[in-house]
Amino acid sequence: MAKKLLVFIFASLFLSCNLNQNVKSPSGSGDFISSTNINAFEMAKKLGKGVNMGNALEAYPDESSWGNPIKDEYFTLMKQAGFDTVRIPIRWSTRAQTTSPYTIDSNFFQRVDHVVDTALSAGLNVIINIHHYEEIISDPQGHKERFLALWRQISDHYKNKPDNLLFEVLNEPYGSLESYWKDFMTNAIKVIREKNPTRIVIIGGINWNSIDGLTNLYVPQNDPYIIATFHFYEPFVFTHQGAEWGGSISNVSNIVWPGPPATPVNIPAGLDSWISNWLVDYNTKQGAENPASSNQIISRLNTVSNWSANKNVPVWLGEFGVYGRYADINSRVRWTHFVRTECERRNISWCYWEFSAGFGIYNPSTGQWNSQLSNALVGE
Ligand code: BGC
Repeated sequence: MAKKLLVFIFASLFLSCNLNQNVKSPSGSGDFISSTNINAFEMAKKLGKGVNMGNALEAYPDESSWGNPIKDEYFTLMKQAGFDTVRIPIRWSTRAQTTSPYTIDSNFFQRVDHVVDTALSAGLNVIINIHHYEEIISDPQGHKERFLALWRQISDHYKNKPDNLLFEVLNEPYGSLESYWKDFMTNAIKVIREKNPTRIVIIGGINWNSIDGLTNLYVPQNDPYIIATFHFYEPFVFTHQGAEWGGSISNVSNIVWPGPPATPVNIPAGLDSWISNWLVDYNTKQGAENPASSNQIISRLNTVSNWSANKNVPVWLGEFGVYGRYADINSRVRWTHFVRTECERRNISWCYWEFSAGFGIYNPSTGQWNSQLSNALVGE
């Protein structure tokens, strides 16, 4: 205990020495970049309650293609409802040249500028990332240079923005990228640090930013401006029942939370075996043993907070939510409220997936909140 206290005092002294300095750009350009006033622990706390502006700037091929273009008013609505932070997923990879120098389309940059400025002006903290860079999953080595070139441009473009604009290196690395992730991520941070020496950078682990990815994540040493992120959709068969993009899980329905169900659910033929096995346990196991019990969530979030404490790295929940196609609203509300409050109990700031589409808390057609869900997040 005393040792932990000493480490804490030492870390606080070290960090406070780094505050309020102006840092000269290592690029040699001579321009001074004002440093952040805030270290990663303080920023992680400040992120507070967040929501993803998903299915818009990462939609393909255009912002409107998934039926959810961003309206300026959304950010004021979020702020008024009690959110502190918005994460804006962005698909840069289809808006940049495919050969060197990989220039990002200037019209797209202007659109992102407008969205970022509108969200910042509404008083929100803003996180931008690289989202759905699918080509880097299928051919990591073929895209390393391009990935770094994208970050060089994004980092340069936003270097003068206030410190509550944060960069997140890449959404949900998985598949063949996993074995390269440490190398790609550390190099992206180096590139970002050329122009943004103290801006908070968010990194997540492999296996789709899972908790297992987090606990195996390499965190660069001597950089007090890093927050680690994870995504939480457990139990996946509950949160993603009916998900059209999830293979055979699209045929699963009637999963309530918490389990077990009052009457066992039908297990359709043709499911992936891990899903049908999960459903057998869901139908039969009682109490804490049930895979849809609240204890399962508690134990997973404890893994996160233990990792954060042992590594002395702040963590942030960047996505969690339940897809609304088949899941009943009461289960969605219970799960959402439970995850939110268990995070808050552990001082983990969170960001709901997402604002106004399939997991949404706001209906863009009627202009109405789904008040049960929004209360589960920002009520009380
Ligand atoms: C993906 C979305 C998906 C969500 C939940 C996000 O990271 O970008 O397409 O709906 O995770 O699966």
